[in-house]
Amino acid sequence: MGSLNESMSATSGLRRDHEVIMKVLSAMDLLRMLLRQGREVPVDIIRDTIDFAKNFTDRCHHGKEEDVLFPALNAAGMPRDEGPIAVMLREHRQGREILERIEGALARYMQGSSSIDEVMGGIEDYTMLMQHHIFKENNILFNMADMVLAGRRDELNQGYSRIEREVMRERHGYYERMADDLLGRMNAMR
Ligand SMILES: [Fe+2]
Repeated sequence: MGSLNESMSATSGLRRDHEVIMKVLSAMDLLRMLLRQGREVPVDIIRDTIDFAKNFTDRCHHGKEEDVLFPALNAAGMPRDEGPIAVMLREHRQGREILERIEGALARYMQGSSSIDEVMGGIEDYTMLMQHHIFKENNILFNMADMVLAGRRDELNQGYSRIEREVMRERHGYYERMADDLLGRMNAMR
């Protein structure tokens, strides 16, 4: 193997995902602001943000962390049920719960049985949680991982690519384009 370049670290493949995820979180921030102002936002935009959060962020990206990075940190001596890994796992679970709440609220809104406020509140909770979560990973946990796991760098990045192929099949590019598209559409609406 050995084709990965020198500037890579043990978390390169995850930091790249974070950049894509941050675009969608920015789009969701704008979405929430517009809803708060009483503006109408096409429902397909809300649906796309949920689709992205469930598939790209949770299944694929959190899958890479939970199945590749965290076990490697654990093997290097970092406990799994306390400290940073436990906090990250708990936040992944909280993110999943909030997404389910948003989906339920959106279904009720579409049936006319609830206002958009519940959807808006869920989006606010989700963006706050994930922005803090990614900040902590980028600046604390991943820096630790880059030092502790430097010797396993290539193997870990290959592990992230394997999960990506398994979970995403051909759709990684599709979700990357969706992130740009969502941010572009929300910026055009402000
Ligand atoms: Fe992450």
